[in-house]
Amino acid sequence: MRICLFVSLYLLRVSGEEFPSLITANASIAVVLDRQFLGEQYQATLDELKDYIKELARVELKHGGVVVHYFSWTTISLKKGFLAVFSVASCEDTWSLFSRTEEEELLLFALTEVDCPRLPTDSAITVTNVMPGEELPQILLDMRTEMAFKWKSAVILHDDTLSRDMVSRVVQSLTVQIDEGASTSPVSVSVYKMKHEINEYLRRKEITRVLSKLPVKYIGENFMAIVTTEVMTTMAEIARDLVMSHTLAQWLYVISDTDAQNGNLSSLINALYEGENVAFMYNITESNPECKNGLMCYCQEMMNAFISALDAAVQDEFDVAAQVSDEEWEAIRPNKIQRRGMLLKHMQQHISTKSSCGNCSTWRALAADTWGATYRSYGDSDQLFKEPDNATTKGVIEHVDLLQVGYWRPIDALRFEDVLFPHVEHGFRGKALPIITYHNPPWTILQVNESGSVVSCSGLIFDIVNQLAKNKNFTVKVILPSHVKNLLSNDTTADMMHSQDAALTLIAVAKGQAAIAAVAFTVLSDPPSGINYTLAVSTQPYSFMIARPRELSRALLFLLPFTTDTWLCLGLGVILMGPTLYIIHRLSPYYEAKEITRQGGLSTIHNCLWYVYGALLQQGGMYLPRADSGRLVVGTWWLVVLVVVTTYSGNLVAFLTFPKQEIPVTTIGELLENQLTYTWSIQKGSYLEMELKNSDEPKYAALLKGAELSGAGASGNLSSWKKQLIRIREQRHVIFDWKLRLSYLMRAEHMLTDTCDFALSAEEFMDEQLAMVLPAGSPYLPVINKEINRMQKAGLISKWLFAYLPKRDRCWKTSSIAQEVNNHTVNLRDMQGSFFVLFLGFFSASVVLLLEWFCNRRRRRSEDVIIKPYVE
Ligand SMILES: *[C@@H]1O[C@H](CO)[C@@H](O)[C@H](O)[C@H]1NC(C)=O
Ligand SMILES: *[C@@H]1O[C@H](CO)[C@@H](O)[C@H](O)[C@H]1NC(C)=O
Ligand SMILES: *[C@@H]1O[C@H](CO)[C@@H](O)[C@H](O)[C@H]1NC(C)=O
Ligand SMILES: *[C@@H]1O[C@H](CO)[C@@H](O)[C@H](O)[C@H]1NC(C)=O
Ligand SMILES: *[C@@H]1O[C@H](CO)[C@@H](O)[C@H](O)[C@H]1NC(C)=O
Ligand SMILES: *[C@@H]1O[C@H](CO)[C@@H](O)[C@H](O)[C@H]1NC(C)=O
Ligand SMILES: *[C@@H]1O[C@H](CO)[C@@H](O)[C@H](O)[C@H]1NC(C)=O
Ligand SMILES: *[C@@H]1O[C@H](CO)[C@@H](O)[C@H](O)[C@H]1NC(C)=O
Ligand SMILES: *[C@@H]1O[C@H](CO)[C@@H](O)[C@H](O)[C@H]1NC(C)=O
Ligand SMILES: *[C@@H]1O[C@H](CO)[C@@H](O)[C@H](O)[C@H]1NC(C)=O
Repeated sequence: MRICLFVSLYLLRVSGEEFPSLITANASIAVVLDRQFLGEQYQATLDELKDYIKELARVELKHGGVVVHYFSWTTISLKKGFLAVFSVASCEDTWSLFSRTEEEELLLFALTEVDCPRLPTDSAITVTNVMPGEELPQILLDMRTEMAFKWKSAVILHDDTLSRDMVSRVVQSLTVQIDEGASTSPVSVSVYKMKHEINEYLRRKEITRVLSKLPVKYIGENFMAIVTTEVMTTMAEIARDLVMSHTLAQWLYVISDTDAQNGNLSSLINALYEGENVAFMYNITESNPECKNGLMCYCQEMMNAFISALDAAVQDEFDVAAQVSDEEWEAIRPNKIQRRGMLLKHMQQHISTKSSCGNCSTWRALAADTWGATYRSYGDSDQLFKEPDNATTKGVIEHVDLLQVGYWRPIDALRFEDVLFPHVEHGFRGKALPIITYHNPPWTILQVNESGSVVSCSGLIFDIVNQLAKNKNFTVKVILPSHVKNLLSNDTTADMMHSQDAALTLIAVAKGQAAIAAVAFTVLSDPPSGINYTLAVSTQPYSFMIARPRELSRALLFLLPFTTDTWLCLGLGVILMGPTLYIIHRLSPYYEAKEITRQGGLSTIHNCLWYVYGALLQQGGMYLPRADSGRLVVGTWWLVVLVVVTTYSGNLVAFLTFPKQEIPVTTIGELLENQLTYTWSIQKGSYLEMELKNSDEPKYAALLKGAELSGAGASGNLSSWKKQLIRIREQRHVIFDWKLRLSYLMRAEHMLTDTCDFALSAEEFMDEQLAMVLPAGSPYLPVINKEINRMQKAGLISKWLFAYLPKRDRCWKTSSIAQEVNNHTVNLRDMQGSFFVLFLGFFSASVVLLLEWFCNRRRRRSEDVIIKPYVE
């Protein structure tokens, strides 16, 4: 018990000693001034800093005190319970020191040389000692570490702004491997230099020469132009002309020849176009003699920030400790990481608000807000069909909107309020895009309320558009080509490609009045002018619809097991066997030799015939031949009978269980073979007709030649389909259309009649591609295509389409017949044939009976005549 208590007390002491509260012990910090890094300045700096800190602690630190340990090298032991470490050292030493302070969870604030990647801002503060005018590589490095751009490759275009030495530093800053944070992987860089030309014409020529030769396929489309303002404006124009400034390219202009006085960049940017990604980083350095700079200035400012943070922290702990008991305080007092976080935050805030060191060297970042900018002003339905002005059709943004993205200062690097490439990160930034559509189930399904305004949009295309809107951050503003009627039908079988709405939509899109047409248009090889198709969102194969094959009549089922020639041979066999048996029986000398009379039985041809027939039905006869010759004839006949009968009964059972169907027509080839039986129709003006016309295959030529061109469906009403359906059902007609549309029809008919009278062809042919439509030359075509491609690969589009497909009912199952058969019990329909035969037998028996009577009567009469007594 005592040991236990002792141990726990000891543990408490140790943890307390290692990490004392700011109330109980004075904070101690390590100040590392690297002698090698500072060189000759070392002694002077050390003395000055010592004095400064002493004074600072005396004046500024109102609570407690601070113990400062000075070191002249970075490999110090950190186990002495320091609160923080301040270092002035080379980049490499700073990073190695950081890795050790991170282990001990200490706060490190470091002053280091230029071109040094900054330490992670959530656990350290880094200030780089930048000489004015030398800051460019550091800016790019900071942009990279703060992930202002997430580039894997960059094309650096520069003019004489950059000296040779500076170029290599810039490249270094982009390609150097940074230990901390794997996300900032090195950028692969290609550098192109342009000659500086004062003459405008020569400059243009020079820029065109450089830009037009860039192998963008291999070096990527992330451009960083480090140029003067004049070159910037020219370059922007030329890049646009060469179609290098588009939605998938990123242009960062770094402009150093501006300053605070002539630094209104907005006035320098002449034009921005819809869909560009352009950002600017430009110099707004003030050349003020009061500007402070230098190593000592940064040291003092950082110590200032630290003392202020320490004071606040001590104050804080006093305040809290005063309100709670000692035990409670031990439980709730901040741990090492919490205290580091508090100090860090306070210091950062102090620096960002109060710092004035190097404050003059400031750069500003701007981003152009271009996506969806030309659509901002219009898109109301009533504005549709007003001629748009020339500017909007070309995609020039009239009102140039530049977003303030952030600032750069040497002391606290980049402070971003927004992202540098807003459209790369946030797509359309929540802008509303006018999207034109019309009702066309199942692609677009609109619902309107009584007053005729659209209340909801759904359908496959809207599933895609909504996903696009989510991914690309825009809102959908639906516009309609014409006023909708109050009630929209749910008819999924209409072909809207040729409707008036479709035509109006095309016109509106070609005029650029909508950003996207949310419709499913057939992709034609020769598209209407003024539009571009997106990637196909759906592929519709053609198919044909035919009456379901019916069961063949079973009246003559008993004849089915044998083919006609088999029956004929069998009959012939019976007929020939009678006389054969008779002759052999007759000629045999056996009976004479044994002196047996041939009595009864087989003594006449007539009897022999009946005997052979009886044997066929497995009926025995009373008298059999006694001679071996005759017996052999009968015996072999029995063998034949055995085979025939067994085969017949086996086959009959099979035919009873598996009813025979009509031979189904499932391919175009089969349909063409049955040309005489079937007629077929193709929709007039449809894609299918066009494709068949263009096709060289003889099969398709024959198909088109034999087809009736019908107008059904084009008018889009079910009643015209109805007429066709009746023809299919009753007149061996076939219709060709999208498989989808035909399956909707089939489903509708099934719901109506609850029968499955139709079947679709097994063969699918002539895929029709459906796509959405964009104005020609729309910058967003590649963006949208990329998204559609992604949706397709993820299987989203097929999943959505599946939801709109007709539900699979029993008519879909082609095996339904076989299932029925398994439980087939023999019914009257199967047996009707045998009854028919029975009836036939009765009938012929009656006829023969009549004949017999008749014959008998005649014979009697003639006999009467003969035995008539002779009467004289
Ligand atoms: C803390 O520092 C102050 C002033 O430097 C000093 O008066 C005080 O004794 C120190 N306290 C401890 C616990 O060392
Ligand atoms: C920024 O502008 C100032 C003042 O015009 C200039 O002295 C400095 O060299 C510029 N910075 C760079 C990197 O060119
Ligand atoms: C920059 O110039 C534009 C027009 O050229 C003007 O509207 C804007 O107020 C100017 N901005 C500043 C900060 O002077
Ligand atoms: C530092 O410069 C910024 C703008 O360049 C200015 O707003 C701020 O007041 C300056 N800070 C100090 C302490 O001078
Ligand atoms: C559009 O451009 C044409 C010729 O390019 C010109 O005739 C017409 O006036 C312009 N319209 C507007 C509204 O600027
Ligand atoms: C959409 O844009 C807004 C405005 O820029 C932005 O705040 C938001 O984060 C963006 N949303 C997405 C998902 O990118
Ligand atoms: C129809 O919807 C529109 C827009 O949502 C609304 O302004 C209008 O009042 C609605 N009309 C009726 C009859 O509900
Ligand atoms: C269309 O379908 C919806 C939902 O299935 C139904 O509410 C609506 O009444 C249908 N409209 C017509 C015209 O049949
Ligand atoms: C877009 O349409 C225009 C004009 O119809 C055509 O020249 C261009 O090649 C099309 N673009 C694409 C990507 O198909
Ligand atoms: C077929 O017969 C089996 C077993 O006798 C029975 O379970 C099944 O329901 C029958 N199916 C039909 C379609 O009658």
